[in-house]
Amino acid sequence: MARPALAVAALLALLLPASAQDEPYIIHDTRPVIMQGPYFASLSETGATVVWLTDTPCQAKVVFGPRGGPLDRAADNAAHGLLPIGTRHAVHLAGLEPGRAYSYKAVATRVVKMKAYWPEKGLSAESPARTFTTFDRAKPEVSFSAVADTHENPARVKDLLGAVDWDGSEFLVHLGDAVNSLESEDQLFDRWIGPAERYLGGSKLHLFVRGNHETRGAFARGLFEYFPSPEGRFYYARDHGPVHFIVLDTGEDKADETNVYAGLNAFRAYRGEEFAWLERHLATDRRAAEAPFRVVILHQPDWGWVDGKGDMWTALANKGRVDLVLGGHFHRLRKIAPGEQGNGFTALALGQDQIAKVEATRAELKVAVTGKDGAVLEAFVLKARR
Ligand SMILES: [Fe+2]
Repeated sequence: MARPALAVAALLALLLPASAQDEPYIIHDTRPVIMQGPYFASLSETGATVVWLTDTPCQAKVVFGPRGGPLDRAADNAAHGLLPIGTRHAVHLAGLEPGRAYSYKAVATRVVKMKAYWPEKGLSAESPARTFTTFDRAKPEVSFSAVADTHENPARVKDLLGAVDWDGSEFLVHLGDAVNSLESEDQLFDRWIGPAERYLGGSKLHLFVRGNHETRGAFARGLFEYFPSPEGRFYYARDHGPVHFIVLDTGEDKADETNVYAGLNAFRAYRGEEFAWLERHLATDRRAAEAPFRVVILHQPDWGWVDGKGDMWTALANKGRVDLVLGGHFHRLRKIAPGEQGNGFTALALGQDQIAKVEATRAELKVAVTGKDGAVLEAFVLKARR
């Protein structure tokens, strides 16, 4: 009886023309074009998620290594045993060290014609080498800037991005509602990601928080693919410097049953799951309890539509000793001091043409809100609670 390996070889010989069995696959003389990115959709102390677009279907990988050394590590986006082939690429780098600077290149190789055997390939395109630094809870300070509700207005986006203190910001947060409704990939890049990346340059985290307007439109269901997190959710926690960050997704601002959604929304259950996650997280995450500051980043500072359970969310944030809730949504600056609405924390709704700059040390967390012209509209300092 033939051994299994011999049997497979015999079967292949039957299926394939004799001349083809030892030939290499075809590599056409054609190279993809990197159309957008790479950019950082997610960053943590030990991981980073790099996203970029190519003009034609490709397989993707990121080569990387500690800054100054060779790019001798590689990560791909394999799923279920296969390397995805597409024009949008998201690769998660894992096993990184906190507070370490890395260099990387995004590499895409054309897959010209997909077939069962001998798919026809093309050449590779790679981004210029770029650097980034992982988050680090041991770092003594942190600084970032946030904008909100740009609503796809190019002049507003240009002015705001031009006014951000980039040298003094380790990352940028968009607090949601970058569009009026999400209709296409081109719109997402033209109206927000592209302009922002001209400054972030694939080196700094592009933290995007989903707004209620991003839950609407023909392309709304595709948003996560452009800001994927390794957790597979729009809500998660991160540690950097003295701050424990909790990023929440406040979903829609109206009930699932509202006629305009035609029965296609299911935020009641989703927000319930998110609440359960937050409850568990605050009760069990050591850093959530021990960090000098807890900052919640979200779109709707009043928690969004939570089926009349806003007080439960406030009570949970109080119990978790949240220091600051930072959002947008109202299109005008609103600061809600502790105690005003049953909140034990400071809540800040950033206005539409404003930038919030947040800087924290282990002793204090400073927030300054400025207009596009640099005028200071609000400034306050929170002291670390014991
Ligand atoms: Fe909104």
